Amino acid sequence: MRRREFVLGALASGIGYAGALDASFTKQIEAKASEPAAIPYGAAVRVDHLKNNFDYRRAILNHCQIVVGEGGLKWIDLRPDRDQFVFDQPDRLLAFAEENGLQMRGHTLAWYGAMPEWTETIATPKEAQTELVRHIETVVARYKGRIPSWDVVNEAIADTPTGDAPIRESMWQNRLGKGYIELALRTAAFVDPDAQLVINDYNFENPTEQCRTRRQAFLNLVRDLKDRDVPLHAIGLQGHLPGDQEIDREGLSRFVAELHGMGLAILVTELDVIDNNLPASNFDRDEIVASRARDFLGAIGDVCRPEAILTWGITDQYTWVPIWFSRSDGRPNRPLPLDANYRPKALMRVIQEFTRGDR
Ligand code: XIL
Repeated sequence: MRRREFVLGALASGIGYAGALDASFTKQIEAKASEPAAIPYGAAVRVDHLKNNFDYRRAILNHCQIVVGEGGLKWIDLRPDRDQFVFDQPDRLLAFAEENGLQMRGHTLAWYGAMPEWTETIATPKEAQTELVRHIETVVARYKGRIPSWDVVNEAIADTPTGDAPIRESMWQNRLGKGYIELALRTAAFVDPDAQLVINDYNFENPTEQCRTRRQAFLNLVRDLKDRDVPLHAIGLQGHLPGDQEIDREGLSRFVAELHGMGLAILVTELDVIDNNLPASNFDRDEIVASRARDFLGAIGDVCRPEAILTWGITDQYTWVPIWFSRSDGRPNRPLPLDANYRPKALMRVIQEFTRGDR
């Protein structure tokens, strides 16, 4: 599956399924969902709810051209022990995607997070290399030609990088140094030469010293990989936006321009807006959430057309945000394009401004 076909395929499947609608705003949103997308839109999916929750399934089919497993392809789900690969979840999501003409992204092959306990016994560099290569070879080979785009490495940059320590501490980094990143990319490219290989990260968007140092560390990493012809085709900007912080439009545009200038495609991979510090009022919160997303997507769009825009979930009914960012007033978070009753919010309108080319 050529990378170009990944995008064309996602675009072609832009025909949505207008569901039963009850408000003019909702009608406008859903009607737009049936128009061919200028930029494919997608969402992270919890595959168990696809089967049991009709509204959830319909929302994904109404709005998405791309899906990615919120879980399923993480080591914690896939590898209960050293000798097992459990593919049930990603197989089910891929079947759903293929049955409905959707594209599926793979998330993620090498990450510090969601690692099963047994991986703590990976003690030597040789062992780490063997396990990382075996994992990627097995997983990417299984889905070769069917999952055309992979988050090969997730969140490689240190939370607050320094000149001496730009790369986040992890089992992979501890055993292999930053070389694990190249190893993961080269292994994935060897198994599926046509796959789009992505490194995915977050916290680049705000006018803070931390974001500035993270942008610079990320650029240094990517430039080093590209200078050494390491196979890398795109950057995933996760886009978990702190709702109470403005977007550094100039800094983000400059960052994207440097990445795009290295011949890399740009994907928005996990957009949601973290609203724990925003006002209580749903209306006010939804407007601020939408404005942050508009500024974020605008800063990217001022430089280049993102190849896809995905949110990390589609409805406030299922979001990871309260795990880390619950509200002190106990109100449910509202980070996603549809509310918990699947009604489109201002954020969905902003996303469609970009994905439908309205802006
Ligand atoms: C999160 C999932 O949404 C949670 O359900 C899970 O418990 C932890 O991981 N950045 C990423 C995603 O790249 O893989 C994370 O997903 C959210 C942050």
